[in-house]
Amino acid sequence: MNHSRLSVDSGNSFKLGLFPPNVSGGMTPTTVPERWQPTWDNNAELARQADAAGLEFLLPAARWIGFGGATDFQETVFECLTWASAVLAATERITVFSTVHVPLVHPVFAGMQMATADQVGRGRFGLNLVCGWRPDEFQMFGIGNNGGRSLYDMGEEWLTVIRRLWAEEKFDFDGDYFSLKGVNGRPKPYGDSQPVVMNAAQSPRGREFAIRNCDFLFTTLFDLDDRTRTEIADFKRRASQLSRTVGVCVCAYVVCRPTQREAEEYHHYYAQQNADWVAVDEILNTMGTKVEPDRLDAFRSHLAGGAGLYPIIGDPDQVAGHLASLHESGFDGAALGWVNYLDDLPFFRDEVLPRLEARGMRKQR
Ligand SMILES: Cc1cc2nc3c(=O)[nH]c(=O)nc-3n(C[C@H](O)[C@H](O)[C@H](O)COP(=O)(O)O)c2cc1C
Repeated sequence: MNHSRLSVDSGNSFKLGLFPPNVSGGMTPTTVPERWQPTWDNNAELARQADAAGLEFLLPAARWIGFGGATDFQETVFECLTWASAVLAATERITVFSTVHVPLVHPVFAGMQMATADQVGRGRFGLNLVCGWRPDEFQMFGIGNNGGRSLYDMGEEWLTVIRRLWAEEKFDFDGDYFSLKGVNGRPKPYGDSQPVVMNAAQSPRGREFAIRNCDFLFTTLFDLDDRTRTEIADFKRRASQLSRTVGVCVCAYVVCRPTQREAEEYHHYYAQQNADWVAVDEILNTMGTKVEPDRLDAFRSHLAGGAGLYPIIGDPDQVAGHLASLHESGFDGAALGWVNYLDDLPFFRDEVLPRLEARGMRKQR
C-alpha cells in the first residue's frame, strides 16, 4: 500500500468516504424532494464538510446513461476526472478518487489528467479503476465486446502504461492492446509517490486484479456472515503471498436518526412509499440479475433503499455497531451513501464518529 498519501494514510483502522455525490440521486432511486442534486455548489460544500470532519475519501461514480424513471435517476453526472480536479482544489486533506472506465480513456491521456489532478491536490488524487458492466454505455462509445476477452486483461496493460508514465521518462510500449512509441509526460504525480489505486469489483477476476495491481478493493455485500470474514481473510492472505497489502472496503447506505424507529420510518418513507420504481426496475433490467419470483419484492426493496449497497439503518449506536461488525469481518473501510449527503452528514459526524472513536476504529479528532 502506498504510505505517503495524505488522508488515506490517516492512521484510522476503519476508513470512511462518501459515494457517489457526483450523480443525481446518489445511490438512492427515490422521488422525495430532498433527494440529492449534484450541483457544483452542493458538491463543493459537501467536500469541504467531509474534509473538515476528517473523512478519508470521496468516491464518484462514472455513469454515462442513467436509469430513467420520474427522477431520471443517475442521469445528471459530473464527469469524474474533471470533478476530482475541482474538488481537490476546494479541499485540503481528503483523498479524492476519480472513477475511470478502462476502455473509454486512452491511458496516456488518463495518466496525464490524473497527474495534473494529483498536482492540484498535492498528492491526494486516487484512481478507482472500473472495467464497466453496461453494454449500452459501451455502445455509446462505439466499443464492442473486447473480442470476447476480459476487460481486466486490457486493464492490466492500461494501468501498466499509466504507472510507467508516472514514473519513467520516454518509453515504448508494445502490448496486446496498446502499441505506443516515445511515451512521455510531465508533470509526474505530486512528490515521489504514485496515486492510490483501487478497483471496484465483485467477480473473482476483478478481485484477482486488485490483488495484483491495487491498494484497495471496493466491493458490495448482500449479507454479512461468516463467509464474508473467510473471503476477506483469504483475499488478504493471497495478497500477502505476493508481498502485497490490499485493503478491502465496502459500499453501504446509511439512514441514521435519533431513534431506531425514526430511522426505519424514514427508510420506509423514501424507499417504499416514494421509491422511483421505474428507475428501480430499470436498474434490475440492466443488471440482468435473475431473481426468483418469491424474492423479487425483497430485491426490489433492496435496490430502492440504496441501489444495491449494503443497508445500515438505525440510531447512532446501531449504526456504529453495524460499522464495527463490518470492521470485525475484515473490512478496512466503507464508502457511504445517503438520501441527501449534506442533510445527513452532520448528524453522522456528531453522533456516529465519536462512537467509532470510542470503539478504537478511528482516532480522536
Ligand atoms: C463499489 C463499486 C463501485 C462501482 N462504481 C462503478 C461506476 O462508477 N461505474 C461503473 O460503470 N461501474 C461501477 N462499478 C461496477 C464495476 O465497474 C464492475 O464492472 C462491476 O463490479 C463488474 O465487475 P466484476 O465483474 O469484476 O464484478 C462499481 C462496482 C463497485 C463494486
